[in-house]
This record gives sequence, structure tokens and C-alpha cells, in this order.
Amino acid sequence: PLRGLGPEGIPVAAPDSFVAPTTGVTHYSVFIRQFTDQLHPDLGETTLWGYHPAVTLGRGGRGQIQRHLGGIFVVQSGKPIQITMTNELPQKHILPVDKSASFPASQKQQNATTTHIHGGFVPWTSDGGPGTWFTPDGHYGPSVESQQGNIYKLLNPQLKPGQAEYYYPNNQSARLGWYHDHAYDLTRLNAYAGVASAYIIRDHFESDLRNDGLPDFVEHGGHELPLIIQDKLFVGTDLESKDPSWPGPREMGSLWYPHVYETDRWSLGAHPLGLPPDRSIVPEMFGDTMLANGTVYPEATVEDRRYRLRVLNGCQARFLNLQLYVDNGSADSIALNSHLEPTNAAGPDFFVLGTEGGFLPRPVHTPSNRPFDPISFGGSLITAPAERWDLLVDFSGFAGKKIILYNDAPAPFPKGSAINDYFPGSSNPTPTIPGFGPNTRQIMQFKVISAGGNDRPLGLTPQSSLTSTLSPFLVPPGIAIQNGRLHLPPGVKVRQLTLNESFDDYGRLLQLLGINRERNGGFGQGYDEPVTEVVQEGKTEVWQIANLTGDTHPIHWHLVNVQVLGRQPFAVRGYNGSPHYTGPARGPDKTELGWKETVCMHPSEVTTVIMRFDLPKVPFYVPSSPRIGGREYVWHCHILEHEEHDMMRPLVIL
Ligand code: C2O
Ligand code: CU
Repeated sequence: PLRGLGPEGIPVAAPDSFVAPTTGVTHYSVFIRQFTDQLHPDLGETTLWGYHPAVTLGRGGRGQIQRHLGGIFVVQSGKPIQITMTNELPQKHILPVDKSASFPASQKQQNATTTHIHGGFVPWTSDGGPGTWFTPDGHYGPSVESQQGNIYKLLNPQLKPGQAEYYYPNNQSARLGWYHDHAYDLTRLNAYAGVASAYIIRDHFESDLRNDGLPDFVEHGGHELPLIIQDKLFVGTDLESKDPSWPGPREMGSLWYPHVYETDRWSLGAHPLGLPPDRSIVPEMFGDTMLANGTVYPEATVEDRRYRLRVLNGCQARFLNLQLYVDNGSADSIALNSHLEPTNAAGPDFFVLGTEGGFLPRPVHTPSNRPFDPISFGGSLITAPAERWDLLVDFSGFAGKKIILYNDAPAPFPKGSAINDYFPGSSNPTPTIPGFGPNTRQIMQFKVISAGGNDRPLGLTPQSSLTSTLSPFLVPPGIAIQNGRLHLPPGVKVRQLTLNESFDDYGRLLQLLGINRERNGGFGQGYDEPVTEVVQEGKTEVWQIANLTGDTHPIHWHLVNVQVLGRQPFAVRGYNGSPHYTGPARGPDKTELGWKETVCMHPSEVTTVIMRFDLPKVPFYVPSSPRIGGREYVWHCHILEHEEHDMMRPLVIL
């Protein structure tokens, strides 16, 4: 069954009985460990890495439960918390580590980690950027180890080697965030291994909406469900013949991750470093098996009433087009090798209340039966990695039926030829690795039982205003485009930036973003090149990002939320730093009118966003980054294999 929140499902972190050193706020202790969990009844035990918090069991007892994606936080807006993270990971990674990268810790130490609070408005010393990693034996990354000492100790002088301390002000409106590993060069592997969980902020505006029929909080026995969707590959029975050199756990049910760079598609020619190493980063990882809330193809029993679903696309690289259809099967659970196909009967529609930055200005009604449209790249709910949805779904009228949560988005998005690719870019049509899929169409199913539908009438309509005073907009949403032309607010700095593809010294695809500076015959900068996005605290800026590649990239900012102003097609060929537009600009989708921090940037389009670079006020000293100066954040593509090779740049606030 689908794991919800709590002792039977995904454990919710419980605070310590003592208050935090330095700040006196509520304190939590979280361990990062290797463990096993059963992710499907027909799958063996899977070895995972993940967060291991203290949790409350039953009637206030405390204990430890380790489950995949464990450690969901549920916190109140305006109530800061502080966390001690202890790294207890073993020396050997459960996934193959690419040693060709420049980062010394990935060559010598495979168990560095750091925790990024994705969507959090936090001081940079608690942001968990790539350079803030720490290892169990007490090595620390260049952004936190300075001549004055370890920066984490400013928050907790008693920290031991192998520990880090984070302070989250939570001065944000209600929203679903998440937290996950962000260690330099290891993020894609650590996150895939399980080092990720959800972070839910509650506020009064949200609790008032309960009078309008918003389902109760799940921790009150209500009808709100987080849905963390991921795709993975599991070792089947014949790994010996298929991948004899696999270095990780080999039992059936173990995680598998592609590690051979398939060169046949690219004419490699002679490259300075020759062929890629056999444990190499790959352009993107697409799994063949879908998971929700940490288990494979789960089934949720729901009543015939209204539910609030808090969806997070936690995939490495896979976009989702979320749809709901009535299922024609009758099985009680989804078998590992099943291929459920939906009937044509639509399930309940989506009523979209919010995205990454909290509530939309108004709810948006969205049909749930729109297949992927290759012309507009649209569908029902196109969801890129790291994007979130806050949804109302009404199951009344579906009692006795099963509803499939269905996906038909191509991979890579939007022009992949198949949705079940094992190796993107592979010309080999035969999967070389045993898996249980490929089935990335069915994500999970809802079994609707009759409970007499006792919902309060829904007070929310598409006209209701959801705008909370905690997050006022910079510009009125959706007005920047008029008659196909973009109108920018006067007096605001505008940056021209690019998303671009190049090749590294092994001839591997290299994704880049950044300023328009010539590099390897293309545009864009690598993560380690000198900082170019430097902003004064409090300043508002417009960024116009031209996508020169064939993929849609979900671009994510640490620290700030952005408003999408619009998108406009431009001529990729001949681009030299300022776009030559080839068609009219269009406004953001209705479901993008609120605050975002992960934004889809489609091929051959310039996407324009606006944001203000405020810093959170905190009751302790925040030094400058010893690595880079200023307040060190990043912006990057959230396709994790792109982020690490090398679609990430520092963002420095002065
Ligand atoms: Cu969820 Cu820097 O990312
Ligand atoms: Cu990307």
C-alpha cells in the first residue's frame, strides 16, 4: 500500500527534548545512514542511503524507524528550527562513482554529503550548497572550512567531526519543499540512493482554507497525501551476465544505475583524454520502474471524497505528464511486470492550488485526461524534476473503481523517442540491464471505497483568491506579455543568459548554463569558473535565459523564488548573446502564475523570470563564503545528471 505519513508510512521527524545551541530554537537530530527497505512485495530488500530522524511512535513514544524517504518534516511558518546532521555513511558507495571528475572527495571519499533545503529561504551557511559537504571522518568542503574554523560550529560549538548544523528560519508561506543531498559531484548518486525527503511548511492562511473545504492535515487523520514520484532501476536475476563489473549490491532488488557512457551515438574522434572511464557519468538516468512515496507501484485506498495531493517529481531526469484514468484491471496490487493500460474513462479532474512557492493567486481547474502533445509540449500536468503541485482531487462518484495515476511524457523531454529509454542517447534498442519494467506509464493506483462522501462543500472556486500576505508578488502575475510583446518593469537590471550543450575532454556531452561567453565553441560556463552572477542584497533582477539545446531544462534557484514573465521563440542558429526573436511572446501557463523556484525552459525559447534577492534575517553571525566570498548560493538545472556535468553556476549575494 501507499505509504502516507507516520509510523506505518514515511516517518515524520520529531524534535529533540533540548533546544538548539546558539539560537535556542526547536532542535532535531538526523542521521544519514545505509539501511535496507522492502519497496515492493515481490522485490527483495533494497539497500539504500537516507535520512534517519528520531520519530514519534504511537502515543508520544520516541524511536527510530528507517524507511526509504524517511524523515519528512512538518513545520510551522515563522517557527525556526535547527538540525544536527550526522554522516554515518559507509566508505563504499552503493552506486558506481565516476572518478574522472575533478572533485577530490569523489576520488578518495565516496561518502561526502551535505543537505540542501530545496525551496528554503535560509542563510547560505545552512543552504547546503555543493561546497558544504562533510564526511564521517571529519573532512569538510571548501565552502565551510575556513581559517577561522568550521562554519557549522558557529551554530553549534559542540559539533563533532562528521556532523553539520543547519538553521531553517521557516519564514515562508505554506508550501511543500524538500531536502536532499547536494554534495559536489555526488548529488545525483546520493539522491538516487535515497538521500531525500519532504519538508512541509504550514501557516494560518492555509489552516483558514479548511473552512473552504481544504482537506484536513494528514497528521490529524485527514485526507492530505504527499506523493513523491521517482523512477529507478532494480537489479533483476541475471546481473552476472548483464553487468558483471557492477560494483554495488547485487541481490535482486538492489538499486542499479547506468555507469557506462555509451559513445556510439556521438562521433568521438580524438579527444584529449581518450575514451570515458567505465564508471562514467551518463547524460541522463531514466528508470524503468516507477515509485511513489518510496515504494514501487503502490496502491492507495481512498474514500469517495476530496483529497489534497502534494506532488513532488523526485526523478533524476524524467518529466511526468500526470493523468488520472479509470483502470480496467481488478488486481489488488500492481505486479512488478504488469503493464496496466487505462480505459478511456477519465478519472477526477485536478484542481491546482499551488506550486513550489505555495498557493497560486487562484486555483486552476485542469482536466486529468490530456495526453502529451508533442506540438505544444503540453498535457494535463507536465511536471519537471523538482517541480511540485498542490492538488485537490475529488474521488466522489468513483466508489468501487480503481484510478491509475498515469504518465506518458517522453524521455528525454520533449523529444525523446520512447518513454522507457534505459540509456538516453543509446542506439542499442535492447536494454542491457535486467529490470522489472519497462513500465513508466503507471505510477500507482487509487482504490476508491465508498464512505458516504461526507465532504464539506468546496468553498474554493477558480475565482477564489489564494494570495497570502506572506508572499506578495513583485509584479501582478501574468501581465508582462501584451499583444505578443514582453514589457519589462522599468529600472530593473536585465541579464542575458544561456543554456547550452558542449563536449568535455572525453567527448561526453556537457551541459552548461551561464553568461554569453565563448567556451569550447559554445556558450556557457562550468561550475568552477569564476563567479559571474553576483547580486546586491535586496535588488530585483530580470533574467532572460535562451535555451540553445534540444531539451527542456528545469532551472532551479537556491534562495529566491521567481515569477515567470513569459517565453518567446528565438533563432538558435547565429545566436550571439542577444536573441533574434522569431515569433510572439506568450505568458506563463495558468498553473505558473504563482511563485516558482523550478522553471521549465523549452528548446529554442527565451524564458524570462523576475526575482528579488533578499536574504533571510537570522539571529547569528553569517560569515562570507571562504571559497568564493559573499553569500554563496547556486542556480542549476534540476536534471541531476545535467546539474553535475556541468549545468550549475554559483550565485553570490553581496
Ligand atoms: Cu533540489 Cu540545488 O536543488
Ligand atoms: Cu538540464
